[in-house]
Amino acid sequence: MRLEIPTNAERFGANTFYQVQKIYELEGGYGIDTEFDSPFHVIQQIPYDRLHEIEKDLAIIIPVKNERLRLLEGVLCGIPHACLPIVLSNSQNEPTDRFRMECSMVDTFCRHAKKKYLIAHQRSPEVARLFSDGGYLHLLDEDGLVRHGKAEGMLAGIALANLVGKKYVGFIDADNYFPGAVFEYVRIFSAGLSQSKSPYSMVRIQWHSKPKIVDAELFFAKWGRVTRITNQYLNLFLSQYTGYETEILRTGNAGEHALSMPLALALDYSTGFSVETHQFVSLMEKFGGVLPSPFPEIMKTGVEIFQIESRNPHLHEATKGQDHIREMIEYSLSVLWHSRICPALVQKDIARELRRLKIVRKNESPLQLRRYPELSTLNFSAAAAALDWSRHGNYTPA
Ligand code: GDD
Repeated sequence: MRLEIPTNAERFGANTFYQVQKIYELEGGYGIDTEFDSPFHVIQQIPYDRLHEIEKDLAIIIPVKNERLRLLEGVLCGIPHACLPIVLSNSQNEPTDRFRMECSMVDTFCRHAKKKYLIAHQRSPEVARLFSDGGYLHLLDEDGLVRHGKAEGMLAGIALANLVGKKYVGFIDADNYFPGAVFEYVRIFSAGLSQSKSPYSMVRIQWHSKPKIVDAELFFAKWGRVTRITNQYLNLFLSQYTGYETEILRTGNAGEHALSMPLALALDYSTGFSVETHQFVSLMEKFGGVLPSPFPEIMKTGVEIFQIESRNPHLHEATKGQDHIREMIEYSLSVLWHSRICPALVQKDIARELRRLKIVRKNESPLQLRRYPELSTLNFSAAAAALDWSRHGNYTPA
């Protein structure tokens, strides 16, 4: 890949938030291009072999809930061979057993492609045992099963990826229409992660555009309603601490993102669709230097957050409706409002926005959402005994 070197960044404690990087070539060539020997470049080349090194250690978690099988198959097709796909499903078991259909499709596909994979149902007793045996009970409901929700599926996926020894995790939604876009997202993950000088890094994708039909014409919208609002308040939050107005954060709701495993295990998480915005809250709370950090070694090493703009348009299932959009806005703004370090002015503006959108009433506080502490508190050796890997795909950890 050939992409811009991020020259601008905002620093907040140990966090470095880089500006969005533009991609020049999706495929940057094999081996080092000596044209880039001079230090005076604004573009960098990340050769294919370097991306491959990262991808060997990268698990791609695909959260899925009742999506069309053809879309899920397309997503599998877009994931480079060296990565390990981990499908985490919360699809229905009855009246039609959609999870069984997913297992069958994924297994056939991977058998033909000779591709390694893992698949698990988020609500299975086996996945629940992983967390009960590992002493991480926060994720379990009154039935002793992993709670419903996208974040909850992602956490189960991170735990599985760590158990099989992966060094990086990336997330890609199962309802993507373009395998080529999925392929690009994974390449962006590996390119982004390869730039980091710290073992604690994250890459977030800013979609190039989301095509829509407007008056019988294709229109390539850049910003969704949720993203626009989340980013506005995230930047306001950051600027209250730095003292400088900023627009650097563009990926507040990035469903497609990747983390190095040490960072994935050190962050707190928040339920359902608040998860992506909350990652910023967790970064600012834990490594912003405002509160004492539970990870002094990370404070010394630093955390790098890259934002990269994809080139493919993002086309996904868009039948979720206005209530879903409102819920996503509510969730994103609520986690900012409830942050222990949210400045009073930001709280006031968020409350006003939520009232304007008729999401909260006067004098009502935003929703307090369920939070999950860092996964590093899970006892992974105790959890490892819970799983019979042969029931979850064709990948057996060494
Ligand atoms: N395992 C699991 N468990 N997966 C789920 C669950 C769940 O409870 N709920 C939804 N999913 C899966 C869906 O099947 C899909 O693959 C993915 O999670 C995203 O869910 P969507 O319902 O398609 O979300 P969206 O398209 O509105 O929003 C996406 O993009 C946003 C950015 O615009 C999500 O990725 C958001 O998290 C993201 O902020």
